[in-house]
Amino acid sequence: MAALCFMLLMSIFSTFIQAIPTSINQGVARRSVTVDLHRNPAYAPNGPQQYYRALKKWGVDIPNDVDDVTNSFMGGDSGDTNAESIMGDREYLSRVGFGTPFQYLNVDLDTGSADVWVFSSETKVKSPREDIYKIEKSSTAELMNGTTWRITYGDSSHASGKAYHDSIDIAGIPLHKAVVQSAVSVSESLASDKDLDGIFGLAYNLESQVTPKQPTVLQTLKDRLDKPLFTADLRYQSDEGAYTFGYIDPDRHVGKIMYTPLLPNSTFWEFNVTGLHVAGQNIWYLAQWRVIADTGTTMMLLSPDIVNMYYSAVPTAKQDVAFGSLWTFPCNTTLPDFKLGFANGWVATVPGKYMNYTGIEDAPGKCMGGLQPFFSEDFGILGDIFLKAVYAVFDLAGGRVGFANKELDL
Ligand SMILES: *[C@@H]1O[C@H](CO)[C@@H](O)[C@H](O)[C@H]1NC(C)=O
Ligand SMILES: *[C@@H]1O[C@H](CO)[C@@H](O)[C@H](O)[C@H]1NC(C)=O
Ligand SMILES: *[C@@H]1O[C@H](CO)[C@@H](O)[C@H](O)[C@H]1NC(C)=O
Ligand SMILES: *[C@@H]1O[C@H](CO)[C@@H](O)[C@H](O)[C@H]1NC(C)=O
Ligand SMILES: *[C@@H]1O[C@H](CO)[C@@H](O)[C@H](O)[C@H]1NC(C)=O
Repeated sequence: MAALCFMLLMSIFSTFIQAIPTSINQGVARRSVTVDLHRNPAYAPNGPQQYYRALKKWGVDIPNDVDDVTNSFMGGDSGDTNAESIMGDREYLSRVGFGTPFQYLNVDLDTGSADVWVFSSETKVKSPREDIYKIEKSSTAELMNGTTWRITYGDSSHASGKAYHDSIDIAGIPLHKAVVQSAVSVSESLASDKDLDGIFGLAYNLESQVTPKQPTVLQTLKDRLDKPLFTADLRYQSDEGAYTFGYIDPDRHVGKIMYTPLLPNSTFWEFNVTGLHVAGQNIWYLAQWRVIADTGTTMMLLSPDIVNMYYSAVPTAKQDVAFGSLWTFPCNTTLPDFKLGFANGWVATVPGKYMNYTGIEDAPGKCMGGLQPFFSEDFGILGDIFLKAVYAVFDLAGGRVGFANKELDL
């Protein structure tokens, strides 16, 4: 079932990590508590809202009455949050608050899954974790008795636990009685990522794994937004990236946003691309390839024919048996740009620099490509390697994705 496979995206990458245990230590962007002070100039002034945000930004507890005032006085809501690169772009983490007062955790906003779960005071772990959702410290946490969840990822890593109704602060937008999934059991591969405090699913129209069935956080959030959309501006090895909710940030893109409809009945952010081009070759390959836009997957994972086509333009690249048949090349290789065409005429360019994912520490001088083959589904995954190169709009009401160029750090 597509839905199940799709929770797996992060773990497809974990498989790669396991194959290359030390490869991800280069270019480490350490987690720091960044407060994103970037402001949207298009905001209409809203006193209570600004006050609320200011309190939140400086970590002041929000008195309950202020919270209520901001809720009732705001027509629609909008805001932004950071998207900070962790460990050479292995993942991007964002600050999201849980409970009352809000406890801020670094979670992976993941457009490829629908569950919102966090490490909590209930999570059984071998070594204590610093940042967890302390349920007993939240005055608004209410156990949803009889409600459970379990996610199994592709490499058989998994998380499971209980669910609470509690408050969430996403991008300065307070949600009440949202479904917060508290992990009781988490597999070692997830627990070993010390930067990750949880995963925040934002898949288009996918149900969460909570039983009995509950609305997803995204469904709860959607009705609150000024405009029913969010955007991702992931940045190459940088903590300057951001997600915006409820508005499009004109400062973060260049030129027009070009929209592509989602495929019928999509539960993911799934659409077709219609052309491929490798810089330096004078041919465009035209066909239809189904892909999903997935912020929770590190790499760009496409069908083997596309991948072979790309690396055939890189004479020094080879599928390396020593490294789980990943495509590798000498680190001094200059990679060509990779272009994807859309039916609306727009062309996305992933610069050659971005196509080089990382060095392999066990094999000095050897690097690994950000484009790798994906065998197990009939569609491909445009993960972070692709998304870093574009400004992406996830339009919930329109059932479409939009892409635009942005200034890149090359
Ligand atoms: C939860 O449900 C179980 C059985 O349905 C019941 O025995 C228990 O008292 C309930 N707990 C709370 C806190 O409501
Ligand atoms: C979409 O869902 C509707 C209703 O379930 C169904 O009738 C239709 O065939 C589906 N379309 C596709 C392309 O799967
Ligand atoms: C998308 O591409 C698939 C082939 O991968 C094709 O069967 C389908 O008709 C396309 N859908 C649209 C809406 O273009
Ligand atoms: C890359 O390094 C290898 C030695 O490791 C050398 O033989 C080759 O000429 C270099 N290529 C370029 C393009 O610098
Ligand atoms: C590829 O990435 C590695 C690790 O970040 C770096 O050492 C290497 O210089 C890069 N190669 C090129 C050609 O950019």
